[in-house]
Amino acid sequence: SKRGKWTYFERMYWRTALVILAFLTHAITVTGQTLDVCATCHPNATCEEKVDGTGKACNCMYGFVGNGRTYCQDKNECQIGANKICGQHTACHNTYGSFYCTCLAGYSPSNNMAIFIPNDGTRCQDINECRVQGICGEGGKCTNMQGYFNCLCQVGYQVHNGAEPFHPHQDKALCKEVDCGLPPALPHSVITNPGSTVLFYCKEGFHREGGGNISYCTENGFWTKATLSCKAIDCGQPPLALNAVQLSATGTHYGSVAKFGCSEGFFWKSGENSSVCGAESVWKGPSLVCEANPILLRDQLSVRAHCNSYCRELIILCQSAHIQIDPAISDLVVFNEKCLRWKADKYEEDTENYRVIFVGFRAYQRSFHDKRKKLLSSTSDHPEICLNLLPVTNYTISITALSARFTSTLTTNTSLQEILYREIEAPLPTLWLRRSANTLDPISFYQVFVLPLEGTLVFDCSSLNTPDFSSQRKPHGQYITAQLHLRDIGNEINLTLGDGHYYGGFYNAPLQNGRDYYIILRAVSQWGGVRLTHSCVIWAKVRGKGSFYHI
Ligand SMILES: *[C@@H]1O[C@H](CO)[C@@H](O)[C@H](O)[C@H]1NC(C)=O
Ligand SMILES: *[C@@H]1O[C@H](CO)[C@@H](O)[C@H](O)[C@H]1NC(C)=O
Ligand SMILES: *[C@@H]1O[C@H](CO)[C@@H](O)[C@H](O)[C@H]1NC(C)=O
Ligand SMILES: *[C@@H]1O[C@H](CO)[C@@H](O)[C@H](O)[C@H]1NC(C)=O
Ligand SMILES: *[C@@H]1O[C@H](CO)[C@@H](O)[C@H](O)[C@H]1NC(C)=O
Ligand SMILES: *[C@@H]1O[C@H](CO)[C@@H](O)[C@H](O)[C@H]1NC(C)=O
Repeated sequence: SKRGKWTYFERMYWRTALVILAFLTHAITVTGQTLDVCATCHPNATCEEKVDGTGKACNCMYGFVGNGRTYCQDKNECQIGANKICGQHTACHNTYGSFYCTCLAGYSPSNNMAIFIPNDGTRCQDINECRVQGICGEGGKCTNMQGYFNCLCQVGYQVHNGAEPFHPHQDKALCKEVDCGLPPALPHSVITNPGSTVLFYCKEGFHREGGGNISYCTENGFWTKATLSCKAIDCGQPPLALNAVQLSATGTHYGSVAKFGCSEGFFWKSGENSSVCGAESVWKGPSLVCEANPILLRDQLSVRAHCNSYCRELIILCQSAHIQIDPAISDLVVFNEKCLRWKADKYEEDTENYRVIFVGFRAYQRSFHDKRKKLLSSTSDHPEICLNLLPVTNYTISITALSARFTSTLTTNTSLQEILYREIEAPLPTLWLRRSANTLDPISFYQVFVLPLEGTLVFDCSSLNTPDFSSQRKPHGQYITAQLHLRDIGNEINLTLGDGHYYGGFYNAPLQNGRDYYIILRAVSQWGGVRLTHSCVIWAKVRGKGSFYHI
């Protein structure tokens, strides 16, 4: 109670003095009394027997540091660092005289002790927050990290009220399904399938001209560019119908209708009279069938004036109906072996266009094929055309009068045309034979016939009988004077008639002086000893002169 009346400074003074005394004597005797040491201990100190038995002393309690009497201060164990004292991922909490450890947020104690002290076996382990379903909210994707976790948005979701990565409990951010809004509109097109993918197609009456027809809602909330381009359907001019005329048309666009009626001189028999422009940009119909009115037809035919296309239709109709009219091409003949002539049945001043197609075959040469075409315009009543036909070939030639749509066909054989016909008067007439190797390869050999020009001359090119001069015994008759094999000729040969030599086993007998002969060249093609074909041409007309022999 006495102490209570001391001023602060008095107390401090005394305390200091006592400390010094205690230090010096350990036990102080004041006015004959022994001072109770324990009474001077700090409230947070204990009074304990000294180890050496010399009395008592004040010791600061566990967790405090100081002199035990005037000064016992809390020792902050945490100062050294939580990592060092409590371990990894921990927090250290200092208390008066003590401390304790806890795990940092995001970590949990290995033995479920919320509070622990070092070396009690507790470790702080990372908490896998992502194990909690839906921790990142709808559309969120959790990523566990050491001591924390992050949220990102899944594909098809977009972050709102913040940025990625976010923390659902700390940020306001959240994932929301991506919404691209309304799909883009394209001209003349319609959208189907609304959703995250839309399909465009062209409106009725339009057709796709190009471009892609799909658009997607992308992750970042935009539609991919749709490029579909649609164009209005246009069928063009309505079609022509046989023996019919167009009466009206509402246009050329989709859904347009064109009406038809039979031409003059024809009557409606069946079918639809109208044509409609359809989605495929083509006219559908008309299917009407107009038939010729027989009475009118006769009138039309009697007026064979300028024959327009309508008139030509009539001619075709007549032909199909077996009504006799003059064909556009008649009296078709071959002359000079390579030229054609015919009679044209047309109105005087009209120009007719002809198409000539000729196809050549050789029975003896399978691989040979010659197909060509020629066009001719003519106003003539008797048109002519010469074709570059190849020799020893069987040609089928068709001529079409294009506007009259009439075709006439004939077949003709060309002969060996490689030699020039000559008339020679010489003692030893020499004839020149040249081959154009590429067109006549199948020829095996040539035979040269001598025909005395007497009386009626008969020569059969196809005759297999091969008369030679010596066996003939009839010098006035025809005979083979030479047989020339291809291998002996090469590209050309000069054959001198009557030189007295043997050619291919045939005697080239001298010609009689003053006599006239025809020399015929026969080309023979054969395979394996079988004669396949032959062709003859008059090579020359010669007059023998100054012969050595007289038989
Ligand atoms: C002694 O320690 C307690 C806590 O243990 C504290 O509240 C008190 O203030 C301390 N006393 C003094 C005088 O420092
Ligand atoms: C979309 O385009 C594709 C390919 O270009 C095509 O095959 C498909 O038919 C189109 N769909 C529509 C509805 O036009
Ligand atoms: C087409 O027109 C003719 C008259 O020109 C008519 O007799 C016929 O019934 C019509 N046909 C159709 C299918 O409309
Ligand atoms: C020519 O053609 C006709 C008919 O196609 C045929 O009979 C004949 O044998 C052919 N002649 C030749 C030489 O090819
Ligand atoms: C062409 O020759 C073959 C036989 O070689 C014959 O059958 C055919 O009638 C001939 N054709 C003409 C148009 O001369
Ligand atoms: C054949 O005669 C002609 C003209 O006289 C000559 O140009 C040619 O060279 C001769 N050919 C041969 C193979 O003798």
